[in-house]
Amino acid sequence: MSDALSEHDKGLHLRGVKAGYGETVVIEGIDFDLKPGATLAVLGRNGVGKTTLLATIMGHTARHGGHIHFDGADISSYPIYRRSAIGLALVPQEREIFRSLTVEENLIVAARPGRWTLARVYEFFPSLASRRRNRGDQLSGGEQQMLAIGRALMGNPTCLLMDEPMEGLAPVIVDAVLAGLDRLKREDDLAMILVEQHARLALEFAQDCIALDRGRIVHRGPSRALLDAPHLLAELVGVGGGGDRKA
Ligand SMILES: Nc1ncnc2c1ncn2[C@@H]1O[C@H](COP(=O)(O)OP(=O)(O)OP(=O)(O)O)[C@@H](O)[C@H]1O
Ligand SMILES: [Mg+2]
Repeated sequence: MSDALSEHDKGLHLRGVKAGYGETVVIEGIDFDLKPGATLAVLGRNGVGKTTLLATIMGHTARHGGHIHFDGADISSYPIYRRSAIGLALVPQEREIFRSLTVEENLIVAARPGRWTLARVYEFFPSLASRRRNRGDQLSGGEQQMLAIGRALMGNPTCLLMDEPMEGLAPVIVDAVLAGLDRLKREDDLAMILVEQHARLALEFAQDCIALDRGRIVHRGPSRALLDAPHLLAELVGVGGGGDRKA
C-alpha cells in the first residue's frame, strides 16, 4: 500500500479515516484500497462500525480525520450527491425504497445515463419486471432487496456499497440475491463492498476481506485464507464463523 496517491489512481482509497456521528468517533485508522472491478467483504460483530464505514464512504457521517480518494479525486469533503455523481452508490441496511412509489417509479427516480437501464435491471431481476406496477410496500422482503440493488444500479455506479443485503431473507431468496451479485461480478466491471453477517457467504463472494472490531480493522487479507482458517474466522465474527443468522 503506497502512501502517495497519484491523481491517476483509479478506484477507492481510504487513508487514516476517522469518522462518526457529531463529536462521537466510531471508526478510526481505516486504510484500504479497492481497485476497479474488485470485491471486498467487510466482516465483524454487531455494532463494530460496518454501517458507519459505508456511510462514511458515501458522505453520511462526520469525518474527524484521514482522506478518501476515488478515481483520482480527493472526495473527503464532497457532499453525498457529488459522490453519487462520480460513481459511488450505497444499498443501505434498511433498503430505503419509496414505499408509495411503484417498482418502476423507484427505478426511474434513481436513473443516470449509462449502461444500466430499466430494461437491463428487469432482465437482471425478472421478478422486478413482473412487479413493475406494484408499490414498494406491496413487495416481499426479497423483492424489496432486489429493488434496492436495482435502484443503486440505475445510478450507473462504478463502486457499489452493500450493507447486509441478505439480512432477514429466506435461504431461497438469499440464493437468488447472491446469484444476482455473482452475475454482476462476472458481467460488469463494478467494484463492490459487501458488508455481511453471513461471513462465509461474503467470503465466498469477495476476493478480499477486512474485519472490524470496535471501529478498527483487525484483520485483512484474501477471503480464501480466512475461509481456510475457521478458528480465526470464529474469533473475528463470533462463534460459528458467521454462518448463522444474526440473533
Ligand atoms: N446515527 C448514529 N448516531 C450515533 N451513534 C451511532 C449512530 N449509528 C450508529 N451509531 C453507533 O456507532 C457504533 C457502530 O454502529 P454501526 O451501525 O456502524 O455498526 P454495525 O457494525 O453496522 O452493526 P450491525 O451489525 O448491528 O449492523 C455503535 O456503537 C452505534 O451505537
Ligand atoms: Mg450495520
